[in-house]
Amino acid sequence: MINPASRTKVIELSLIRKMFEATKPGAINLGIGEPDFDVPQNIKDAMKRSIDNNDTHYTPNKGYIELREEIAKKFKNENGINTDPENIIVTVGASEALYISAQAFMESGDEILLPNPSFLLYEACINLAGGKIVPVDCKMENEFKLKAEDVLEKITSKTKAIILNSPSNPTGAVMEKEDIKAIADLSMDHNFMIISDEIYEKIIYDKKHYSPARYSDNVITINGFSKTYAMTGLRVGYLTANEAHCEELFKIHQNSIACSNSTAQRGAYEALTGPQDEVHKMVSEFKRRRDLIVSRLNEMGYETVNAEGAFYVFPKIEDKDFVKKAADAGVITVSGAAFGSNGEGHVRMSYANSYENIKKAMDILEDGV
Ligand SMILES: Cc1ncc(COP(=O)(O)O)c(C=O)c1O
Repeated sequence: MINPASRTKVIELSLIRKMFEATKPGAINLGIGEPDFDVPQNIKDAMKRSIDNNDTHYTPNKGYIELREEIAKKFKNENGINTDPENIIVTVGASEALYISAQAFMESGDEILLPNPSFLLYEACINLAGGKIVPVDCKMENEFKLKAEDVLEKITSKTKAIILNSPSNPTGAVMEKEDIKAIADLSMDHNFMIISDEIYEKIIYDKKHYSPARYSDNVITINGFSKTYAMTGLRVGYLTANEAHCEELFKIHQNSIACSNSTAQRGAYEALTGPQDEVHKMVSEFKRRRDLIVSRLNEMGYETVNAEGAFYVFPKIEDKDFVKKAADAGVITVSGAAFGSNGEGHVRMSYANSYENIKKAMDILEDGV
């Protein structure tokens, strides 16, 4: 074996993926992080047409201009962000956008504020870039919402960036407007970057999503098509930042992946410009399932916040063997500790599974675990 570069030592393969690979057949999977719906037909048709039209060449490095123009419109109309197609990069999923944000703006000596608990990829991106993670607890007493006063406490002269993720994976928490605005102000006053992962923006119930880039110039806004349009395997995401920041991000993007997939970009264009009925249907079905899973867990005595977005709940379950016992009984869940120390004593359950399966899974947990 050739010695790997030392940077690979600071990251590990995903334990969650490993666990899924070991899942026994027939188990109900409440561990999964992707919609169980199919890509809407109009998007499939657009991609088929794109292949027939030989749209299979390299695209401009930042992505097709038509797509970037639509993304710019979306940012303006829905997020209050005034940006330009030139300051938008279409990426290989939000994952690439996170990776290049870390590579472009983090290095050794930088302190990076990270909500605790949070999505696993953040930790890996920060570690690969050499940044030092400074956790900021998202407390259950605050329904896991990140609070500006807790962020303020952790700011030092070395603070370089914070990652925000609202609605959140793994808790489903949706941040309050006043906290988003206050953190945006802090980023200007203390000169640090906000990396705002808004991938679950549309999967939100009875609540409005706010983008920090409305209030601060120091923001990289990240979004994508995986969750809203059930396009996980097609790998299209995007970001915007101001011109100077975008240029640095573009250097990493252009020199690593060149461009996002051409056919999938045509699908993404259709997703933005076509009818949105499928999205609305999917979100109302997620809400129905959220109501079911939250009430069943609370009835069982597992204190569970009525998560306002994404498709996860994060019940308090202190039995350390719960995840294993549930898996043995046929229900896959993920230990909250996987998402940070503040996730200990919790379990992440995804309701990206059918209503019937969620019902069955809750019966199994009630009877046998
Ligand atoms: C919070 C969060 N950000 C980003 C991603 C990655 O999204 P993409 O498929 O666009 O790379 C995920 C996927 O689970 C996620 O949960």
